[in-house]
Amino acid sequence: MPTPNAKLEPPRLGEPYLLTPGPLTTSYAVKEAMLRDWGSWDDDFRGMTLEIRTRLLDLLGDGKDDFDCVPMQGSGSFSVEAMLASFIPRDGKALVLANGAYGMRSAQTLDYLGRANVVLNKGDYLPPRGDEVAQILADDPAITHVVAIHCETSSGILNPVEEISEVVYAAGRKLLIDSMSAFGAIELKCADIRYEAMVSSANKCIEGVPGFGFIIARKAELEAAKGNSHSLSLDVHAQWAHMNKTGQWRFTPPTHVVAAFLVALRAHMDEGGVAGRGGRYTRNRDVMVAGMRELGFETLLKDRWLSPIIVTFFCPSDEHFVFDDFYEKMKNKGFIIYPGKLTVVDSFRVGCIGQMDEHVMLQVVAAAKETLEEMGVANAAPPAIALEERAKLAA
Ligand SMILES: Cc1ncc(COP(=O)(O)O)c(C=O)c1O
Repeated sequence: MPTPNAKLEPPRLGEPYLLTPGPLTTSYAVKEAMLRDWGSWDDDFRGMTLEIRTRLLDLLGDGKDDFDCVPMQGSGSFSVEAMLASFIPRDGKALVLANGAYGMRSAQTLDYLGRANVVLNKGDYLPPRGDEVAQILADDPAITHVVAIHCETSSGILNPVEEISEVVYAAGRKLLIDSMSAFGAIELKCADIRYEAMVSSANKCIEGVPGFGFIIARKAELEAAKGNSHSLSLDVHAQWAHMNKTGQWRFTPPTHVVAAFLVALRAHMDEGGVAGRGGRYTRNRDVMVAGMRELGFETLLKDRWLSPIIVTFFCPSDEHFVFDDFYEKMKNKGFIIYPGKLTVVDSFRVGCIGQMDEHVMLQVVAAAKETLEEMGVANAAPPAIALEERAKLAA
């Protein structure tokens, strides 16, 4: 495991750091792994697929033998859709816990799928809490499944999935988790938190490149999912059964992406697995947030809710601050940041994930300081309304 101060290799190709929630900055070794072509039917590639499935399951810890891992072509949303369609029976009903764009996308997906659903919509960033979920489940016996977003990437909030899991199973219902931006950096050990299935994708905390997602589900649920899906290509049961029988993906796999992901997964283990990866991202966040706060920036979330994945900052109220200008100037200094997604106040986001360490984060803060000076922004403090918004959030 590297020491906390180990410096990661900077991008070799002169490209800017992606301070975004994926696609993200990958290592040279990951990029290099894509320089070879693979036959998807060949034993070598089947071995790679099996190694990926096995290594991903290992991240679940004790109890992992009850689960299996099913890679699925496409971006993360394809895997979310595959999970919802395959595990919620056609006569089931879902409660979607939404506090941002990805929760709302799950609800929209269920509408497309024709699955009955209700949404607990907490707005831009308030967390869904156990007691309110318990109440909804008590009031509506038709609900069979609850869909939770682990880290809601649109604000960066780390939702309380353990608390939610407890009330879901106390009420005899089932939990499905979209852990897209969290898995690999935040523990989701099946001995600690109960769930039926979760999804993530190649280009998030494992630090691969985009091209496929994966569904990790209880074998019993995978068995029971037969016939549920509306879709041939997104049928998790069919993909699982075929992969177990032949070692192959049902349709053309993104071979280069799989090869790159395997290198990324081995590096993830060498870094100390979820604890090592999450530790580096946490240091990234802490150094970056402390530095930005010194410049006067304020985070949308109070510390208790800040994830080590991505952080939302309010835009400064200073009239000289124009986000597009700030963005371009940061990019020219080698850092691509991310626009915000809040509806009430202007914001932007800075990602903490990818091949970056705290040394890079110190450079990000220095670049932000220089950029503010170039723009003539004397203080990065947000407007009063932003702080009033934040006051709604429990500490
Ligand atoms: C929590 C969450 N769910 C779903 C998605 C959708 O993934 P994709 O954009 O790869 O389709 C994302 C993407 O960032 C995400 O963060």
